[in-house]
Amino acid sequence: MNLTTFPADSLVVVVGVSGGIGSALAEALHAALPEGHVLALSRSSVPRLDLQNEHSMSDAAAFIAHQCQATGRDLRLVINATGTLHKPHPPEKSWAQLDAAAMAEVFAINTLGPALLMKHLLPLLPRQGKAVFATLSAKVGSIGDNRLGGWYSYRASKAALNQMVRTAAIELRRRHPDALCVALHPGTVETGLSTPFAKAGLDVVSPAFAATRLLRVIDDLGASDSGGFFNHDGSPLPW
Ligand SMILES: NC(=O)c1ccc[n+]([C@@H]2O[C@H](COP(=O)([O-])OP(=O)(O)OC[C@H]3O[C@@H](n4cnc5c(N)ncnc54)[C@H](OP(=O)(O)O)[C@@H]3O)[C@@H](O)[C@H]2O)c1
Repeated sequence: MNLTTFPADSLVVVVGVSGGIGSALAEALHAALPEGHVLALSRSSVPRLDLQNEHSMSDAAAFIAHQCQATGRDLRLVINATGTLHKPHPPEKSWAQLDAAAMAEVFAINTLGPALLMKHLLPLLPRQGKAVFATLSAKVGSIGDNRLGGWYSYRASKAALNQMVRTAAIELRRRHPDALCVALHPGTVETGLSTPFAKAGLDVVSPAFAATRLLRVIDDLGASDSGGFFNHDGSPLPW
């Protein structure tokens, strides 16, 4: 697919390219924007970006700003594809398994890290023209859609992430009226995150397929969609 609503020479950043969806997104973006520049960041890239180390995020932001300046490209798209479900702790099935240190770790990666990423990268988006910061969330983070229970920390950290996205979108609009900050659910995707929980009957898609349909959603979004939580088919999800 091609990205039709972004300038061909855009600089785009994918965070979490060592992951299943992140690596597929980087690959799909190379094809979608052949004249663009895809900056692929992770805990093993140069510069290194660790969501539990704010210095690494400010250093990465400085690197991105320098790349924009040196190449004359605008940062038009950032996709955060990081997250954790069962590392380093399995998700809780019952309140009896709740553990403060384990919950703090999940929140650090799924909520606080992406919030700090927004702190450092949203100011780099251009003031005019479409620009998107999209973070991968999860439908199980929807409070309204929670019918099964379980996975306390993962669910709650994604619900809190969604609130961070919504709040940042309101602030972003003041200075960047054309820019968007959104949360996206990728569907159930065959990656290291989901494999331990694979079960019959789930509609599981490949990372490449998931990446293409996420880019389609991002391409179709307009400024009035900022602050939203969207499914992989572009439909809004309940908070
Ligand atoms: N797969 C699914 O079915 C599914 C469903 C719903 C939502 N999601 C969401 O989609 C996103 C991507 O998931 P995935 O399936 O691609 O998972 P994955 O293959 O396990 O990838 C997770 C990524 O997060 C990175 N990460 C973890 N902790 C980090 C930290 N402290 N700093 C920087 N990066 C860190 C990992 O980096 P390292 O390689 O360095 O560990 C890896 O790049 C997640 O937000 C997940 O919640 C996935």
